[in-house]
Amino acid sequence: MQAQRKRFIGGNWKSNNTLAKSLELVDSVVNKLEFDNLDVVVSPVSLHIVPIQQAIKNNVQVALQNIGHKGFGAFTGELSFEHVKDLKINWVILGHSERRRTPEISESEEFIANKAVLAINNGLSVIFCIGETIQEMEAKETQAVLEKQLKPLVDQVKDWSKVVIAYEPVWAIGTGKTATPEYAEEIHANIRKLLPDQSIRILYGGSVTKDNAAVLIGQPNIDGFLVGGASLKEDFIHIVNACK
Ligand code: PGA
Repeated sequence: MQAQRKRFIGGNWKSNNTLAKSLELVDSVVNKLEFDNLDVVVSPVSLHIVPIQQAIKNNVQVALQNIGHKGFGAFTGELSFEHVKDLKINWVILGHSERRRTPEISESEEFIANKAVLAINNGLSVIFCIGETIQEMEAKETQAVLEKQLKPLVDQVKDWSKVVIAYEPVWAIGTGKTATPEYAEEIHANIRKLLPDQSIRILYGGSVTKDNAAVLIGQPNIDGFLVGGASLKEDFIHIVNACK
């Protein structure tokens, strides 16, 4: 029997918006969402997370877009899991391709997985992003790339109830070139084989819109979305509604 997986919709606001603009977005979009039996999580920049969290009036949760690699200590500029827990924030996005693949940032597979494991072992939940570039896809390396990105996580995580995987092909992010439902389903099914537990949710991310959300969520191995651009506007309401 197929495991029942609660659907999950994340809104990744990335490095956008003044605080006033983000608070407007809470009013006009986030607080308009009505749902149960779904997880909906939005991720503003870290500096805004507290006022955003306070402005949210419904069951939408917040996520950080990154976290430091250690607990409290002499790590100038880092944000530790203790800071996050102290403010009752439960989620963190890790391994986004904009952190893996931006040359000036270049977070390594091990570094990302180690941060994820530290966060999980300290009670946080992680949205762990993986995905191939267009060159890797054309060279038929997608599966190998995804395995390499997942392996250090799979080797170390014990509590998988705190992990959501987001499959985000780099070529689909912010480009308008959404993966076809068939392609995404095939990759999701392959990712699922690499995971120890059928109940782990696998999200699709990359140019999800109000127009393609329904057909994508109809695929048996797509358990929700990580949405970038469309989470900054009213379209996010339609995307969440498509997942109900
Ligand atoms: P996009 O971004 O929806 O704008 O393509 C997705 C993401 O980067 O998580």
